[in-house]
Amino acid sequence: MNPSTAPSEPPVLEIRRLRKGFAEREVLRDISFQVPTGSIVSILGRSGTGKSVLLKCVVGLLEADSGEMFYRGAPLAKSECRIALRRASSYVFQHNALFDSATVRENVLLPLQARGTGSPKEWDKNVRDVLARLELEDAAERYPAELSGGMQKRLAVARALVTQPELVFFDEPTAGLDPLRRNAVFAMISKLQRERGFTAVVVTHDVQEALVVSSRILWLDAGLVRFDGPAAEFETSDDAQICEFRDNIAALRTALRS
Ligand SMILES: Nc1ncnc2c1ncn2[C@@H]1O[C@H](COP(=O)(O)OP(=O)(O)O)[C@@H](O)[C@H]1O
Ligand SMILES: [Mg+2]
Repeated sequence: MNPSTAPSEPPVLEIRRLRKGFAEREVLRDISFQVPTGSIVSILGRSGTGKSVLLKCVVGLLEADSGEMFYRGAPLAKSECRIALRRASSYVFQHNALFDSATVRENVLLPLQARGTGSPKEWDKNVRDVLARLELEDAAERYPAELSGGMQKRLAVARALVTQPELVFFDEPTAGLDPLRRNAVFAMISKLQRERGFTAVVVTHDVQEALVVSSRILWLDAGLVRFDGPAAEFETSDDAQICEFRDNIAALRTALRS
């Protein structure tokens, strides 16, 4: 956590008693948690548990059925607060959501153009900086389809960081990548987070990597929060359900590698 954060400062995000269902099916039943400023919070849980639905409710891509959400202590129900969160945050989608007909450079420029503040000269500098940081300068004039999976992911991250957000949501940032690339993505998130000081919320299946880079773990199951605490506590917990979840993930990993 950021040591300069006063204890009285509200968390960057607070979610209280969030519920969200579709038709007959209740996906999120009662979700409450906080995201402290400057932390990396990883959200773990089986496929189909509602991790993406949760992120989408927080950023306003889906509307929750009930519950309260606060951004720096202010209710997201207020439209000005929702707008402030939108301006301060960015979202790395599970499948990157790159613009295929735009070059790497143009993909990264788009969020700056959409925001409209600053001059084209400043945008150009920001784009060059972020491409250099993510080792994509040489690919600036290429198209997404010409990039490897790892480069596409780096491009998605570059596009999310170019606006210098204070809060970044990553939905399965390592989906579809091999183990080496997965490590590289987590190392990158952790390094960028330390350099730029943003707060990160990461939805992931990669328990081992998440435990290494995260300050906190939120484990969701059956629409409820089953664990919410420091990563070290999740790693060493002897709670039967947590052990089973950790073992299942480890077994799945081994099966996938063999
Ligand atoms: N827009 C939607 N309409 C109806 N059902 C949805 C929608 N989005 C997600 N769901 C359902 O909600 C459940 C949780 O989905 P999701 O959040 O994507 O899971 P995951 O934890 O794998 O990210 C799934 O059963 C999914 O089919
Ligand atoms: Mg998902």
